[in-house]
Amino acid sequence: MNTPKRYTITAALPYTNGPVHIGHLAGVYVPADIYARFQRLKGNDVAYISGSDEHGVPITIKAKKEGITPQQVVDKYHGIIKKSFKEFGISFDNYSRTSAKVHHDTASGFFKKLYEDGKFIEETNQQLYDEQANQFLADRFVVGTCPKCGNEESYGDQCENCGTSHNAVDLINPKSAITGNVPTLKETKHWYLPLDQYQEWLKEWILEGHKNDWKPNVLGQVKSWTDDGLRPRAITRDLDWGIPVPAKGGEGKVLYVWFDAPIGYISSTKEWAKREGKEWEPYWKDQDTKLVHFIGKDNIVFHCIIFPAVLKAEGSYILPENVPANEFLNLEGNKISTSKNWAVWLHEYLEDFPDKQDVLRYALTANAPETKDNDFTWKDFQARNNNELVAIFGNFINRVLVLTHKYYDGQVPPSGKLSDADEDTLMLLKKYPQIISKSIERYRFREALMELMNLARLGNKYLADEEPWKQIKTDPERVKTIMNIALQIATGLSVLCEPFLPFTSKKLKSILNVSSSNFSEKNSIENSWNSSVIPTEKGTNDEESLALTWNDVSTKNTLLPSGHQIGKAELLFAKIEDDEIQQQLDKLQASKKANELANKVTEPQKETIEFDDFTKLDIRVGTILEAIKVPKTKKLLQLKVDVGIDTRTIVSGISESFSPDDIIGQKVTVLVNLAPRKLRGVESQGMILMTETPEGKLAFVEPEQEVSNGRQIN
Ligand code: 2FM
Ligand code: ZN
Repeated sequence: MNTPKRYTITAALPYTNGPVHIGHLAGVYVPADIYARFQRLKGNDVAYISGSDEHGVPITIKAKKEGITPQQVVDKYHGIIKKSFKEFGISFDNYSRTSAKVHHDTASGFFKKLYEDGKFIEETNQQLYDEQANQFLADRFVVGTCPKCGNEESYGDQCENCGTSHNAVDLINPKSAITGNVPTLKETKHWYLPLDQYQEWLKEWILEGHKNDWKPNVLGQVKSWTDDGLRPRAITRDLDWGIPVPAKGGEGKVLYVWFDAPIGYISSTKEWAKREGKEWEPYWKDQDTKLVHFIGKDNIVFHCIIFPAVLKAEGSYILPENVPANEFLNLEGNKISTSKNWAVWLHEYLEDFPDKQDVLRYALTANAPETKDNDFTWKDFQARNNNELVAIFGNFINRVLVLTHKYYDGQVPPSGKLSDADEDTLMLLKKYPQIISKSIERYRFREALMELMNLARLGNKYLADEEPWKQIKTDPERVKTIMNIALQIATGLSVLCEPFLPFTSKKLKSILNVSSSNFSEKNSIENSWNSSVIPTEKGTNDEESLALTWNDVSTKNTLLPSGHQIGKAELLFAKIEDDEIQQQLDKLQASKKANELANKVTEPQKETIEFDDFTKLDIRVGTILEAIKVPKTKKLLQLKVDVGIDTRTIVSGISESFSPDDIIGQKVTVLVNLAPRKLRGVESQGMILMTETPEGKLAFVEPEQEVSNGRQIN
């Protein structure tokens, strides 16, 4: 066996301001869990680490909204989130929280070390301030137009549309998220991490050193930031919720949440190591340890630029071997949205499908947003269950179990002389651990899952070709060999499916009366995190049962010896009926209706203007002649519009609602005398007036009757 390797596997610490939904599972926690379980099954030494991200502005905003304290917010959601992860078999070795003392001490310690080593720049400058709320407007306390892509709802620290991370003062037309007021500027002192000093090193390490093994979406974002030029980044904030800045002049200030959160991986590891009586340092400081961060694409800059720069500045830590970030999962064609309740919440899913954790894990992995945003639909979920889990995996296992009981009272029959087909089938079975490993090691979990299903298909094909149910009448001796081989495949499946379908694996192993090796079970199931997740199935006698590892499927000639007694047959998966799916669709429809109603709340009237102000606006009817997407943006279309006076270029953020081909010839209303503005290097000479449908889609404002281009609106 190969020497075991040490893995520190981290899964993004979720913000503790709401429950978790399928997007979280698909993007981060299921792929990380597959990876961690797989490494344990391979016999490697794994610390799979996460915890709740309990600082930051979103939590303060939630607390203000609900009229409770931030601590009450995080206490409530930490419990809900942790429970959901447990129930879905996410096999963390430790799930901590950033309000824990060990984390405050660790993050403070990091800051102090870097401060004393002179790694920060201390600067007093102007920051956005809300006079009415009497506070500085950091991060999500301010919204405005993204200077890079023109998204009008960018946050102070990051634009969710283009992913750019910026300083709040860079926003165009900033507005306070607390009062809606236009902020003023006020002087304040902060500590900055001079990212510019790390730029060349980052380029060398990631863009050169990892150009062949990191995902293109991750490399693309890193390249875009370094091409733009990195700038010093404030790592402290004028807020009262967070970790106090441990430096002279730091009173009343806290560490920036994105400074402290990734350090949470380290504090969570410390908490785990202490509980387990282990040393934590090797997991973060030994050059042989493989550190892998599982995150969503909106976290790339923090894990590939800011946190590595912090670790590098500290000097004694290892850097990630990979950061396999996923794209986003949409739901039934729309962006998952907490505020619009457009989501499948994990705790609600389990109320409706209490024993179908693996079905969701399966559907989310089969359709994971690994290379692009993907859509979750309930119909696809149903099809994955009925046509794949039930019809392929479940069907094979059921036939094997039922026939073994029918012909041999549940005892594994001996194998006789092997035919060429038998030899080929067994040889293929032995290849699967390697085939699936290859995909997992390259973070291609969809592909890995497809290969697992191919093994089940192999089993079905073998039975269909050999027809034991027919041969039993003519050649019962031959059937013993066929069933022996089918049972080996079933056992192989029970081991290899564990990373993907842990509940199914546990159930199947229990039926087959085999157990996993200590590597996987001891580490993941019987630790304090997971002890109650997957109960030991009745009827399993651990001393008698066989302990199998991932590699055994390749190396052992027999996984189940003849004469071995298996338990009674049970179905692994059940069909999901149309009405169950319809109920879920109805639930979403109800959310949509509720949103429509909520959207009917009409915005309050804006400040009164004078007639002269109005006459300054030159609004005209026009027609779109050409439309193309602005490269590397999600929202922007570059349009050629005939506005009667001339034909001009207008850049408009409408790409998510319209595809270019569909809007050629569209009548529009254009503010033509708006000062030209450059968006993504293209000069926009006007603005198209838009409104929003109840579903949140953009809609054009157009004259009801034919009006020629250039006609004024007044
Ligand atoms: O995006 C988020 O939900 C963040 N709370 C992720 C933090 S990851 C890490 F750095 F802690
Ligand atoms: Zn942007």
